[in-house]
Amino acid sequence: MAGVAAAVVLACLRYAPDAAAGYGFLAVAPPVEAARVAAVARAADGGDADAAGARDDPAPARPSSVVIFNFGDSNSDTGGMAAVNGMNLNLPEGRTFFRRPTGRLSDGRLVIDFICESLHTPYLSPYLKALGADFSNGVNFAIGGSTATPGGSPFSLDVQLHQWLYFRARSMEMINLGQRPPIDREGFRKAIYTIDIGQNDISAYMHLPYDHVLAKIPGFVAQIKYTIETLYSHGARKFWIHGTGALGCLPQKLAFPRDDDTDLDAHGCLNTYNAAAKRFNALLSDACAQLRRRMVDAALVFVDMYTIKYDLVANHTMHGIEKPLMVCCGYGGPPYNYNHFKACMSAEMQLCDVGARFISWDGVHLTEAANAIVAAKVLTGDYSTPRVTIARLVNSTPPNDD
Ligand SMILES: *[C@@H]1O[C@H](CO)[C@@H](O)[C@H](O)[C@H]1NC(C)=O
Repeated sequence: MAGVAAAVVLACLRYAPDAAAGYGFLAVAPPVEAARVAAVARAADGGDADAAGARDDPAPARPSSVVIFNFGDSNSDTGGMAAVNGMNLNLPEGRTFFRRPTGRLSDGRLVIDFICESLHTPYLSPYLKALGADFSNGVNFAIGGSTATPGGSPFSLDVQLHQWLYFRARSMEMINLGQRPPIDREGFRKAIYTIDIGQNDISAYMHLPYDHVLAKIPGFVAQIKYTIETLYSHGARKFWIHGTGALGCLPQKLAFPRDDDTDLDAHGCLNTYNAAAKRFNALLSDACAQLRRRMVDAALVFVDMYTIKYDLVANHTMHGIEKPLMVCCGYGGPPYNYNHFKACMSAEMQLCDVGARFISWDGVHLTEAANAIVAAKVLTGDYSTPRVTIARLVNSTPPNDD
């Protein structure tokens, strides 16, 4: 059945007037409606044997081969930073789900892990993990602390992009030698390219006056845009881009000494940080819209992570969370249980009970419980522009570029 649906979508994708809507090959809304549009378009064109064949005689379903290339910071680092720095994280990192530290900065799974689960594909191996890495379903280039800004961190987005280019070039070299790399030519083309970065760039400048911060933001977004363009020019066609979260609700930011509480909003978050995050997201969303108009044979989805993560704090009781601004693994007790000098994993950490529902794991990163809620919302597709699920993006077929 899935094969039939995919073939119907494929038949339509090439002929429905989606590019005009600016949503590339994802503009076809429900397949049935799209099939009708495509049929009308074909009739108007005097028919098209190829498209009709694809519709009436669908190819057998291929095994679902999901490939994800992820770029980002600690929000989606599945162990890269630990591997590259030789950091032995200790429990309680990982305590809730993996029951051992995996290099993720959380007590459990990250949003990218839940995305992989939903697509029935294994968790992504970090590019720089020397032992036990399996790249057959993609590569995770995300490294904790990374910035979109070149040189802002050792594995800034430009370096991650170069790592992907290197990985791709070596793979093609193997193919030309008759060898089988973990991801084949088709895998690169059909892959989803996910990006979740920018939080560290904004944070790095927040000590400056706000207008200086605003002046920096277009540069961060330009780096992400350049990355998408470069991936596209090397054949990438499916992009899944996360906006940044509600930085002003992170206990680490809230715990900085302040003169008074005038910058706090109704939910106790810092207005200035959140305004910067929203500005970044607005520009990133605009950049995605511009790219969609230019890259008409690509699908580029922007996900509003800010709304999802702010809702988690604002509507915390609905999510079964009592203290939305308190850190599970920190120091100092209320209001934030965060101390810049005694972080999670320091000898004096004060740790919440296993099973207690907290949003913030360590002041910066979310708990497994929070990541599960965020991921569930990401997976609805309701926060996506265009409004599609990542499963739909995986199952869609880009037009042939030959
Ligand atoms: C809280 O939840 C309600 C109901 O789902 C929603 O309409 C509202 O936008 C949420 N508030 C925030 C600040 O996200």
